[in-house]
Amino acid sequence: MKPPIRIAVTGAAGQIGYSLLFRIAAGDMLGNDQPVFLQLLDIPRLLPSLKGVMMELEDCAFPLLAGVIATDDPNTAFRDISIAMLVGARPRGKGMERKDLLEANGAIFTTQGRALDEVARRDVKVLIVGNPANTNAYIAMKNAPGLKPENFSAMMRLDHNRALSQIAAKVGQPVSSIRKVIIWGNHSATQYPDLNHAETDGNKISLLINDPAWIEDYFIPTVQKRGAVVIEARGSSSAASAANAAINHVRDWVLGTRENDWISMGIPSDGSYGIPEGVIYGYPVTCRDGVYRIVPDLEISEFSQAKMQATYGELVEERDSVKHLLG
Ligand code: NAD
Ligand code: LMR
Repeated sequence: MKPPIRIAVTGAAGQIGYSLLFRIAAGDMLGNDQPVFLQLLDIPRLLPSLKGVMMELEDCAFPLLAGVIATDDPNTAFRDISIAMLVGARPRGKGMERKDLLEANGAIFTTQGRALDEVARRDVKVLIVGNPANTNAYIAMKNAPGLKPENFSAMMRLDHNRALSQIAAKVGQPVSSIRKVIIWGNHSATQYPDLNHAETDGNKISLLINDPAWIEDYFIPTVQKRGAVVIEARGSSSAASAANAAINHVRDWVLGTRENDWISMGIPSDGSYGIPEGVIYGYPVTCRDGVYRIVPDLEISEFSQAKMQATYGELVEERDSVKHLLG
């Protein structure tokens, strides 16, 4: 048996937490031969509720679950962890944009960035889910100077999965056959879902669809606004699909992306594709041996370039509005 991997989940008593923890413990994230030790963080008021979740985890008798702790102290939750899934933050309600949450949520990620810096393993993989995810990831990264920027990522995978499903339905092919979709930029309504490079069984999706109006007037806005539409319908923000995307993101980062495909991850910009350093930006990446690499040399149309710069501009605005939190 492999030694257990320590995983912190914040906001563990929340709705995403409830969809996430049981799947991690069942082996969906790191494989069915990898024991896990869960280190759960929530605010003091939610600890009694978290106790109930712990009882349910215990009652599942998961063979891979080596242990669970629950705490309201980030330094306890993050001690010796290899993976941090930072979910804990307020969700938006109807009519709000995700950046409206910066004021309420940004400060959480200064404290948690510092705690990661102090007590997590130096190779910790950090996924920020709490919104606005990209700028929160930037705040956490800036407050953890002892960790490398490559330790930090923000979740674009829900948008990526949304795009896959829309395309699969349009071309009448299984989701598993759709490859090379990209979500550029911010996890917000300015994100740019790009299917110019997407393929199914080696055929270019854009040629199969051959309908620029569908792409511009339906596909792009549907993916961009899906979070808000789910909130409108459910009365609360997406949870099971978000938890699923978080599992997909970490699984691929740790175990590798599939051959001849890539995923979208929010990662520190490095100048690639004309996006200067200084934001956490959604890029197409491949992962191997626990390391991600931006897919190089893609041809970018003028239309795409404009959309990629627009979402970059929003990230700069968000960053500039939280200068006081950047350590
Ligand atoms: P929720 O309100 O059900 O749960 C949030 C939990 O976080 C609560 O238990 C709360 O007590 C906890 N929390 C608050 N402050 C905390 C802190 N300082 N430390 C630890 N825990 C803290 O919300 P949810 O539906 O689970 O969503 C959580 C976040 O994820 C929201 O910000 C939401 O917008 C975001 N989200 C992001 C994506 C994405 O694709 N990036 C998708 C869905 C939701
Ligand atoms: C989503 O994309 O569903 C989440 O980010 C929640 C939200 O506020 O849209």
